[in-house]
Amino acid sequence: MKIDRDQFLEDGYVILREVIPPDRLEELRRAYELLVERQKVIWARERGPDDPPGGQWETNAQPRLMLGGMADEIDAQTAAAVEIWLHENVQGVSSQLLGVEDAGVTEMMLMCSPVRDHETGGHRGWHRDFYPPHAAPLQGYTDDILENGPRYVQWNLPLYDDSVLWVVPGSHNRFNTAEENEALNADPRRPLPGAIQVHLNAGDGVPYILPLLHWGSRYNAQMRRTIHGGFSEFSHYEDLSYLEHLSPAAQATFRRWNGRSDQTFAQIEAALRAVIGKDGAGYLAALEGLHPGRGEKGRLLSTIFLSKSAKRVHQLKSPHFDRLPALEQGWATHIHPITLHWGRPMADRFTPEESDALWARFKYVDDLVQAEEEQWTPGFQGEATRYYFEEVPEALRVEGFVASFGD
Ligand SMILES: [Fe+2]
Repeated sequence: MKIDRDQFLEDGYVILREVIPPDRLEELRRAYELLVERQKVIWARERGPDDPPGGQWETNAQPRLMLGGMADEIDAQTAAAVEIWLHENVQGVSSQLLGVEDAGVTEMMLMCSPVRDHETGGHRGWHRDFYPPHAAPLQGYTDDILENGPRYVQWNLPLYDDSVLWVVPGSHNRFNTAEENEALNADPRRPLPGAIQVHLNAGDGVPYILPLLHWGSRYNAQMRRTIHGGFSEFSHYEDLSYLEHLSPAAQATFRRWNGRSDQTFAQIEAALRAVIGKDGAGYLAALEGLHPGRGEKGRLLSTIFLSKSAKRVHQLKSPHFDRLPALEQGWATHIHPITLHWGRPMADRFTPEESDALWARFKYVDDLVQAEEEQWTPGFQGEATRYYFEEVPEALRVEGFVASFGD
């Protein structure tokens, strides 16, 4: 498939026609619908005491399948739902767009229409797909993208015609404008100035760069089945027991990605250990292993991500972990490879004493990405916080962090 990477990097997205070959569409719809039916059984079984009989299927504004956690539901009849992610038009194009040899799938999901209309209440408006306190200020991303290209490409791939998504071209590379902030504060559920509605026919796809300002414009009961997920060199697979149902080539691909995932885990651990050991050269070497050839801005973004990982390792090793707010606990245990977070498996690699030393050093970074007063910028996930939404302070540099280790 012919793609224009320069246009993608400039606009932050690109619309591609017939990503799903037309002769594969019916088969794919059937596979995904079967997964929906199987997931509905699970949601009904797991419903809360106050939920309707269908549980999440009935209550959620956007019921979403997470294929990574559905190993038992993936079999010969539904394998096509996974295999499409490995198609040249999806995986090969993702590698081209990221400028890497072998992009690995990080999330495989399906966004579904809700059973009833959720006109405004059900979902947030325009946003960038991250929350700075859990990841990094926007500038961390934009500087890294301008220096090295994006680390992650997200996809919408509808099985039925879909014009839900709106985007602001070029917004992945810059802060919100004053005009955008004004519009977002007035009503985050209306088209922003310069925004474009993405019209996709069944089988078309739109890959986009994560910090892009975008909006899912409707959450009503009109039939929607849109494949959603992304690619990166950082991935994690919670359960690959379904591999036997895939083609030999697909099995080999997932095994290769899973091997790389183990390496990523080891490199993150090595980076954290170097910090505990006050080993600046070791830290830089571990970052180089994590993403070879990235420049200063890439190392800085990874360092900010790792400061959050250090905080979570420290939280998980604390005897008071159970007293943290449920939301904090959830974030600490969440595994999110593209921001280098590995939850409990990573915390398990360290003693409480090591985690104290780790957090004591990374606090240097954490202190620099927050202010004394609460911050708020519209168009992000999450609430007001002391962490900066957009700017990375000039004072924060990898060499300064390394120098702060002392000896
Ligand atoms: Fe989003």
